[in-house]
Amino acid sequence: MCGITGYTGPKQASRILVDGLKRLEYRGYDSAGIAVQTDPADQRANALTVIKRVGKIASLRQAVPKDLSGHCGIGHTRWATHGEVNEVNAHPHADGSNRIAIVHNGIIENYLSLKGMLEHEGMVFASQTDSEVIAHLVAYHYDGDLEAALKAALKHLKGTFGIGCVCSQEPGRIVGARNGSPLVVGVGDGEMFLASDVNAMLAHTKRVVYLNDGEVVSLWPHDFRISDGDDQSVDPKIDHVTWELDAIEKEGFGCYMEKEIFEQPDSIERALKGRMDSEYGLAKLGGLNLSKKELHAMQRVRVIAAGTSWHAGLVGCHLVESIARLPALAELASELRYRNPVVEPGTLYLSVSQSGETADTLYAMREVQRRGGTVLGICNVVGSTIARESDGGIYVHSGPEIAVASTKAFTSQLAAFYLLTLSLARMHDMSHHDGSLFLSQLKAIPGLVKRALEQRDLIQALAKKYCHCSDFLFLGRGLLYPIALEGALKLKEISYIHAEGYAAGEIKHGPIALVSPQTPSVFLVPNDHLREKTITNLKEIKARGGPVIAIASEKDLEVAAIADDFIPVPDCDSRFQPFTMIVPLQLFAYFCALELGRDVDQPRNLAKSVTVE
Ligand code: M6R
Repeated sequence: MCGITGYTGPKQASRILVDGLKRLEYRGYDSAGIAVQTDPADQRANALTVIKRVGKIASLRQAVPKDLSGHCGIGHTRWATHGEVNEVNAHPHADGSNRIAIVHNGIIENYLSLKGMLEHEGMVFASQTDSEVIAHLVAYHYDGDLEAALKAALKHLKGTFGIGCVCSQEPGRIVGARNGSPLVVGVGDGEMFLASDVNAMLAHTKRVVYLNDGEVVSLWPHDFRISDGDDQSVDPKIDHVTWELDAIEKEGFGCYMEKEIFEQPDSIERALKGRMDSEYGLAKLGGLNLSKKELHAMQRVRVIAAGTSWHAGLVGCHLVESIARLPALAELASELRYRNPVVEPGTLYLSVSQSGETADTLYAMREVQRRGGTVLGICNVVGSTIARESDGGIYVHSGPEIAVASTKAFTSQLAAFYLLTLSLARMHDMSHHDGSLFLSQLKAIPGLVKRALEQRDLIQALAKKYCHCSDFLFLGRGLLYPIALEGALKLKEISYIHAEGYAAGEIKHGPIALVSPQTPSVFLVPNDHLREKTITNLKEIKARGGPVIAIASEKDLEVAAIADDFIPVPDCDSRFQPFTMIVPLQLFAYFCALELGRDVDQPRNLAKSVTVE
């Protein structure tokens, strides 16, 4: 949700800032801009050159003069919260004299009162944004030291922020501040970077420092200095990013989502790698930071998450309850935080998030921790806020996920849940033999997913056939109910087709009224005790004239015969079917969106990382 870049060093800043923004475009893409400290030799001005454009980074890139000379600057890609999408509301925002420019990610809750106060002091506002108050406040406090001015301004701000700031009078210096919105410093050789995440700087450096809430940083080409909320200097911990630049390229695929779907055999393999102890039928999860005794003492599990991560949590809770025999519930983070939750001792909380920055999940997790709860993170992005603030956890190692629609992170989160379930189950009722069997089935998953991907052409043809329908139902029972929810979410978010995920047994309680020849139902038919029940539900739809696309085991000839269209998936133990069943749904959503000419990677109104409530 909004991306920030900053550069100071010997190279031309504008190109580095715009390239960095391109890497962050998935965080927001309704407008973008840069502010560069223009070199004295440049004809334009010995000050700040601010360039902004509505739309994607490509329009900003076109607008930036090739010969714009300046070696320090900041950039921003916006996901609008306050004020419509236009050039004036785009960042960076400057003060009235164009001396200070800022970029901001987050929300300033008290901006109206601050704006009133500043207007009273004679300052004139140009935009409708909350962020512009920061520029004026910094200018108001500026007395030759940008860091001091920003720190003075921060004292007035209520809300969340990641801020980058430059001043025309301090060449080569960028000041940044963080409270609730991520900010990372990139340490280069004679050059420094600032960004919302490491993707923006991966082409230049892998040495990074993750800022904590309350910290302020000053950057110069050869140095940086971090101080905390008490104005004490902080010893920086330099981390080494393991992601390769290739991982954030499309590598021959048409878009990131397609690449990420097809990467799943490898990404699931990575999530499992080194974590399976076949000899003892155990999972090895080194980062939980809980002793065996502490883990064994856990009496129940609660998942906190949003969107796709919540769907993974629903699958995880089903597994934990049915296999490890501990009561488990997945809760929407945005609901948990405000309902005054009871945090019982003996409860293991799991905060699940691909980005590790989702505000709803982060705040809910903090609320639980405040009440003494133990929270483990299941995150993809290393060094993200949720990963750092949780008491321990499991990295899912899916690699950078760029497409807004989450695919490979979901299956890697599932893999983490299967491992955790095994750990818990082996502490309770599961035998050594059953543990080994479970592991051998888990090991086979990447291969099964690879085979599920082979239905690509069939699914593309079905997408062509059905993509002009305006409503869909996605139906499943048991472990496949969350997969139905996930299939519906995928279709909605990238194709803009209305889709509802429902428990197949619930449709007769209302949604069956939606069934018509124009409303297809996608049925997920398991190969266990729920198969017959699901087939009954499928027939209820058929009897009312609704077209049915069924996804079931390749061996299920009966379902193949009843459905209007059939997508076979490799046969496996039903406990592992969430992996094989989600793949056709991801592909179906992808091909529908492609067929309808949608922007698959950057669907309208969305952003990858939702850092506002
Ligand atoms: O980064 P997170 O996993 O915390 O994100 C949570 C949701 O915002 C995210 O899963 C969202 O629903 C995706 N766009 C779904 O594809």
